Amino acid sequence: MNKTLIVNRELCAQLLSVQDCIPAMRDTLIAAAQNEIKMLQRQMIPHSSGNMLALMPASLLTKNVTGSKVIIFPGPQTRKDGTNQGIVPLFDTETGALLAIVDGELITVVRTAATSAAATDVLARKDASSVAILGAGNQGKAHAEAMCSIRDIRKVYVWDQFPAAVEAACAVLWEKLPQVEIIPCAVPEEAVRDADIVCTVTSTKGDAPFLKGEWLKEGAHLNAVGACSAAAREVETSVVRRCKVYYDWEEATMRDAGDLIIPMQAGEVRKEDFMGEIGSVMLGRLEGRTNDREITMFETIGISVEDIAAACQIYEKAKEQGLGVWLEI
Ligand SMILES: NC(=O)c1ccc[n+]([C@@H]2O[C@H](COP(=O)([O-])OP(=O)(O)OC[C@H]3O[C@@H](n4cnc5c(N)ncnc54)[C@H](O)[C@@H]3O)[C@@H](O)[C@H]2O)c1
Repeated sequence: MNKTLIVNRELCAQLLSVQDCIPAMRDTLIAAAQNEIKMLQRQMIPHSSGNMLALMPASLLTKNVTGSKVIIFPGPQTRKDGTNQGIVPLFDTETGALLAIVDGELITVVRTAATSAAATDVLARKDASSVAILGAGNQGKAHAEAMCSIRDIRKVYVWDQFPAAVEAACAVLWEKLPQVEIIPCAVPEEAVRDADIVCTVTSTKGDAPFLKGEWLKEGAHLNAVGACSAAAREVETSVVRRCKVYYDWEEATMRDAGDLIIPMQAGEVRKEDFMGEIGSVMLGRLEGRTNDREITMFETIGISVEDIAAACQIYEKAKEQGLGVWLEI
């Protein structure tokens, strides 16, 4: 019987930095565009507490690994208590061996910000120097850090529905990014007007968008990250209309991305108006930004192969450095 490497959240944090994860996510998006992955749509089991069990299976054929993220999407009380958890079991596609069980919570935060950074790196202007973070939670903080890894960022504007969340996130970012001016904002427009890169990373479940198209600066890039169901959206139709729109995986986008689905259902935009998958831009098969005035948008609901790729990176690093606990399962 082979042994399985157990990697807890603390060790994941030590082994998986946003900076290291960005090239891995770029490779993964390219693998997806080249059909070097296998992936099933996310499956969810809802509960009256608001907690949903999510299963996100995928194989990354370039690394011969397969597995599934198994995670709780938290309801209101669980979100407050912070008791939600997740894991990624990682298998070898050839031998079938269970290689590792890796914490899934930290992977989610890091790979999502790293994926947005990989997309931003190909779509945003090279001279982008300011970022707006709308939604000052875990993803908000990780996105601020990720954007600073790919561009010379001088200013980060932070807004949230709760001023206390803005204050808490700014305190963390002042510490983490001492070279950057961190600016708390009272309303979203104040954060967005001057931003070269905008990240919407709220946990909204509703269909009342807070980002207006007319606020976006000429030449800006938007990462729309927070609205992950067909019924939720963060951005108005005017945003989608003003942008060249790219996404991570068409199949999942057309099922779960309310930012695009709601205006499509209302007949305000059509699927043909969107550009396509970001991996194809990375491969040079699809046009990306062509000038400094265009506004680009990356709509992401998150794909399971990103979790498998991140778990694989953690597994390889832990093995190399002799870290983690080996157990016979
Ligand atoms: N696209 C992906 O790949 C991906 C991956 C993971 C998480 N997510 C999504 O990202 C979102 C944020 O996750 P998180 O872990 O940072 O959550 P979090 O709870 O740590 O932070 C969310 C923040 O959003 C704020 N917020 C909620 N609704 C708002 C609204 N309508 N207007 C303004 N602020 C609002 C909250 O006050 C909170 O501060 C979630 O919706 C999550 O589902 C997306």
